[in-house]
Formats: sequence, C-alpha cells, structure tokens
Amino acid sequence: MRQWKKILLVTLMLLWSYPSLAQSVVADPGRGRDYAESLCSTCHVVDASPGNIAKSDISSFYSIANRPDQSQERLAGAIIFPHPAMPKVSFTNTELRDVIAYIMSLRVTK
Ligand code: HEC
Repeated sequence: MRQWKKILLVTLMLLWSYPSLAQSVVADPGRGRDYAESLCSTCHVVDASPGNIAKSDISSFYSIANRPDQSQERLAGAIIFPHPAMPKVSFTNTELRDVIAYIMSLRVTK
C-alpha cells in the first residue's frame, strides 16, 4: 500500500473512533436534556424551574434531582425499573447516562 493511502486510512480511523470514544467516557447533560425534552416532557417538567409545577402531580425533574437522598444510582434504578404509571422507555446506556447527568445537573442540594 502506498504511504499516502496508509496515512489517509489512519486519519479516517481516528476520526471515526474519536466521537464514540469521547461518548463512552463523558456523559453529556446537554444531550440528556434533549432526550428529556423529547421523551419525558409529556409528563415531567424537565427544565430547571424550581417550582414543582408538575403536570398532573408528577414530580418535576428539578424536584426529583433535589430529593435529599438522590444519586445517579437511584436515578438509574428509577429510570430502568419505572414506576407503573411511567411507560417503559428503552434507552441505550449512553442516553441513560446523559439523561441522568442532565437530571443531576439540576441538583442544587449537596
Ligand atoms: C407517561 C408519563 C411519564 C413519562 C413519559 C415519564 N415519566 Fe417519569 N414518572 C412518571 C410518574 C407517574 C412518576 C411517579 C410519580 C412521581 O414521582 O412524581 C414518575 C417518576 C419518575 C422518577 C422518580 C422515581 C422515583 O421513585 O424517585 C424519575 C427519576 C423519572 N420519572 C424519570 C423519567 C425520565 C428520565 C423520563 C423520560 C425518559 C420519564 N420519567 C418519563 C410518569 C412519566
């Protein structure tokens, strides 16, 4: 193989692998917010408004995030094994992590 072809191949491989590499390491709350808006906002108030102006008694993400004992692990459990009234949403691991990162970003309690 010619040298320039090798260089091109290596460059392409790096370009392809980089975004997925980054994705597997860092959760992205911004993307989580997008998922939350499209998948969860029919029931939950998903923005950062402190008031629990919930739709028909369902907790806002802000109030969920600020429960005293809240943690990423608890959230993961609550989202993976949803409350009966909550439809089963299938997430990829990345999406799940992003949504959790977004919800936890609304947390002001330490
Ligand atoms: C069809 C309505 C509906 C949709 C859509 C929905 N939820 Fe819920 N969710 C509920 C209800 C009802 C509860 C239980 C009542 C409450 O906690 O206020 C709940 C509770 C929760 C809780 C708290 C559970 C606990 O025990 O602490 C989390 C976290 C949650 N939902 C996350 C999500 C996420 C993330 C999405 C989007 C992927 C989502 N929900 C979409 C209805 C919904």
